[in-house]
Amino acid sequence: MKIVITGGAGFIGGNFLHYMLKKYPNYEMICVDKLTYAGNIETLETVMNNPYFKFIKADIADRTAIYKIFEEEKPDIIVNFAAESHVDRSIEDPSIFLQTNVIGTQVLLDACRKFGIDRYHQVSTDEVYGDLPLDKPDLFFTEETPIHASSPYSASKASADLLVQAYYRTFGIPVTISRCSNNYGPYHFPEKLIPLMIANVLNDKPLPVYGTGENVRDWLYVEDHCIAIDLIIHKGKIGEIYNIGGHNERSNLEVVQTIITELGKGEIRYVADRAGHDKRYAIDPTKIYKELGWIPKTSFDEGIKKTIKWYLDNKCWWQNIISGEYKEYYKKMYEDKLA
Ligand code: NAD
Ligand code: TYD
Repeated sequence: MKIVITGGAGFIGGNFLHYMLKKYPNYEMICVDKLTYAGNIETLETVMNNPYFKFIKADIADRTAIYKIFEEEKPDIIVNFAAESHVDRSIEDPSIFLQTNVIGTQVLLDACRKFGIDRYHQVSTDEVYGDLPLDKPDLFFTEETPIHASSPYSASKASADLLVQAYYRTFGIPVTISRCSNNYGPYHFPEKLIPLMIANVLNDKPLPVYGTGENVRDWLYVEDHCIAIDLIIHKGKIGEIYNIGGHNERSNLEVVQTIITELGKGEIRYVADRAGHDKRYAIDPTKIYKELGWIPKTSFDEGIKKTIKWYLDNKCWWQNIISGEYKEYYKKMYEDKLA
């Protein structure tokens, strides 16, 4: 079995690679990653010498490079994690989101069509469903919920999903799609809520909470996401969409308060709200539970402790990021907000 993982130097793709190499020591795993600001080769350091692992630096939107990889490697399965993934950046400049998330997906699908594939899996997000109101806690996203994207990021992910479904229907490409809620855990880039707050507490910086902090996200420990994708690529039904999430809803303020409590310090600073800020995400995971027997193993209370411990034990990993190019982004995005 040979699996190509795109975006494997990023947060979830990196965790997935580690998970799969451990679980299936005889599978060949190839990471294809452009190494954007969010890609970090250090995440893969411990598997670089594994003879079953190979790293190829390439852009998924580069047709020549992707066709060459398919021609030479003849993969059985593609799992596409590669994406521009940060909503705030998509508000600053949507273009690269369309290029990578939409055109990149199209190039991968065209390669599957040209060279053949057993399975193309698209890693999507619950954000394609838009948001839910805060005052109706009994509402959840199901696979039948209409697509209703709010940000340029979610619009680009929704567009990619539509292309994947169209290539299934029109060309018979054997696809699956998963739509997961917010992940957290090791190797999470410190521009996203949880790692940013942990890093700021540890660096004695204020904790920027957008708006009132009442927005709700459904948090999933990243390993549970990896387990779900493994199940879908092996046992999921072709052409199907699977929602992934585990009823771990927390408001942003609750998340930040938990981090402050765990670390014993931290000063909240309320800052300007994100434009178009989605109120609440919440997944109904009934389908993946009934069809594939998946339920999350790690509760938020346990996962957040494990995550904080990882950031304390791996300061080098995130401090290297904060001292590099990301520093400029942080200055641009937060200097005025925190002034
Ligand atoms: P990330 O930003 O941490 O990593 C993205 C990776 O993709 C990086 O390694 C980057 O270098 C690579 N990449 C970007 N553009 C590329 C290109 N053109 N060609 C090749 N590689 C490229 O993202 P993440 O949080 O790990 O998310 C992975 C996937 O999961 C994304 O598709 C995202 O939409 C989806 N997702 C994320 C979450 C979440 O909470 N983070 C939740 C649900 C779904
Ligand atoms: P984020 O981690 O960017 O994920 P997403 O927007 O894809 O859900 O943000 C999670 C929530 O935290 C979201 O409601 C925005 C909020 N947030 C802050 O309040 N402050 C911050 O500095 C960041 C990055 C996010």
